[in-house]
Amino acid sequence: MPQNFLITAASGNIGRELLPLLQPLEGARVILPTSNASRLEKVLPPPIDGSAEFIIEEGSIRDPSWLQQQLVKYEVDTVFLCLTGQDELFTTMNILDCLARSKVVKHLVYISACVDFTTPKGVQELLSHCSAGHILVKIITEQKLLYGNFPYTWTILRPTLFFSNDLRTKRSMLGANVYSEPLGEMGVSRVAPSDIALAVKNSMVNNEKWANKHVCVGTKQIYKGSEIAELWSKAIGKEIKMLPITEEGFESFEKRIVPFTGPEQGRELRLMVESFASRKLEMTSEEYKDQVELLGKEPECYETWIQKVGASWQE
Ligand SMILES: NC(=O)c1ccc[n+]([C@@H]2O[C@H](COP(=O)([O-])OP(=O)(O)OC[C@H]3O[C@@H](n4cnc5c(N)ncnc54)[C@H](OP(=O)(O)O)[C@@H]3O)[C@@H](O)[C@H]2O)c1
Repeated sequence: MPQNFLITAASGNIGRELLPLLQPLEGARVILPTSNASRLEKVLPPPIDGSAEFIIEEGSIRDPSWLQQQLVKYEVDTVFLCLTGQDELFTTMNILDCLARSKVVKHLVYISACVDFTTPKGVQELLSHCSAGHILVKIITEQKLLYGNFPYTWTILRPTLFFSNDLRTKRSMLGANVYSEPLGEMGVSRVAPSDIALAVKNSMVNNEKWANKHVCVGTKQIYKGSEIAELWSKAIGKEIKMLPITEEGFESFEKRIVPFTGPEQGRELRLMVESFASRKLEMTSEEYKDQVELLGKEPECYETWIQKVGASWQE
């Protein structure tokens, strides 16, 4: 049966990969709220006869009344929620409430992060070593979805570290031979935004099967900082060094990103990176199996992605 979807962050890392996956869904309507319609138009897939209809609505998803109007106007039954920024807690809670008030929404797919936020052990473990606000906000959101008695079902996706984060350090790798995000030696799983998009699409289309489930998305293998630096060294043909997990290394990371993010987000990204120095970011075998079932395939290979991107930088 055709569905009416509302997709947040459609121009973002996941959103750009998701739109082409939704396009073949005949009869579907895909509502795209955005603060910048002309920017979003540029990433829309070219129209195809008989495919899903994309409708851009310019406005602010931070405004609950406006968002609720869009849900009701288009009789949206399925929502993809991907939020970030300093207002993430307020915006997320208002939107969870809006979906209920709209009385039309049946299913939500929510982007969280690859940590167990729903058991006391998982929450305590996270709180003991991580102070990054954009991760901690996921605790309350996941708990709210679990205990909020909402009139819609949900699927929580827990991605690991996006492959595309490495693009932030392109200039530093090419110019100063340094991977400028100190990831440490505990090891982190990585994920292709295209795999997250596929997980979103499959859990939206097949929402009964994935109702009220958490699924991690990412590689089973974890990568130490030194291994990541080595992969990039091979791909771009010169030795790349990982920024060390020392006070100087973290300080240098924060200083480099503040001009792009502002001081508040710069510090909180540093807090996230510091947390990787003392804990692995990985999933269990059970979690991995669930992911493969949801994706219908193995996740994308991080090494292959690096080789492809590295080769394109050398052209
Ligand atoms: N990067 C990682 O390694 C990683 C790992 C695990 C989880 N995550 C999670 O993944 C999510 C980010 O996904 P992404 O990179 O695909 O998104 P993104 O590229 O950062 O999407 C940004 C766009 O989303 C919309 N948006 C998001 N939050 C908003 C807000 N509070 N108010 C208004 N508009 C907002 C805006 O769209 P318009 O400008 O069009 O209005 C904004 O330009 C976050 O929840 C993050 O915590 C990231």
